[in-house]
Amino acid sequence: MRLQTATWPEIETYLEHSRGIIVPIGSTEQHGPNGMIGTDAICPETIAFGVAESTEVLIAPTLSFGQAQHHLGFPGTIALRPSTLMAVLIDVVHSLYRQGFRHIYFLNGHGGNVATINATFQEIYAQSTFGDADLSDLHLMLRNWYMAESVGKLSKQLFGDAEGSHATPSEVSLSFYAYPDEVKTATMSPQLAPNGTIRDANDYRAQFPDGRIGSNPALATVEAGERLFKACVAEVVEDYRGFVLG
Ligand code: NI
Repeated sequence: MRLQTATWPEIETYLEHSRGIIVPIGSTEQHGPNGMIGTDAICPETIAFGVAESTEVLIAPTLSFGQAQHHLGFPGTIALRPSTLMAVLIDVVHSLYRQGFRHIYFLNGHGGNVATINATFQEIYAQSTFGDADLSDLHLMLRNWYMAESVGKLSKQLFGDAEGSHATPSEVSLSFYAYPDEVKTATMSPQLAPNGTIRDANDYRAQFPDGRIGSNPALATVEAGERLFKACVAEVVEDYRGFVLG
């Protein structure tokens, strides 16, 4: 069930037998010459919708803005500071907790969010520990779809060393599967993008002029995206079921 298309009485009924929710979280940032700017939000959202087809779970609206300051040298990127993202996440969690949600599962699509989400979890748990709020039965979980075991195996098999770490053929494939009418092609030069560490937005664009890091997303296909989708959905279904029972 999707929160956005549900009514409040439907949510009240849902809460009578489940206290769990999946919140897809991503980013709005450049993804190289052929990758959609929404890739990091589209991927976890697509998987979350797939999970909802095979298990009873509520899917929250996707948090589509993330910590992406390093991509701001490319037009179309919209970034939140880590402190802003923390504030947003804290309010989302408190809103859900107030209504009875106790197991909140963030399905993330953007590596740049990970540190901030984990810090936010500690901040929220600290509110309970220090007595600022009673959240003792709150369970928070962060999972990154691209880190799922089945996804890693399949990515390696499909793309090998061309996977890289940003604008990867795996994430581009999954977004192509979600939006087959929006598939784009581009010439990659060099074929395999350079690797390196990232700092601020100007440094990023200087080091990685077309936005990719270590990847060749020209290899992305709808078919590969479908395989990644199915593998990841199956794994997240099991993982989510275990989480809400815990
Ligand atoms: Ni990405």
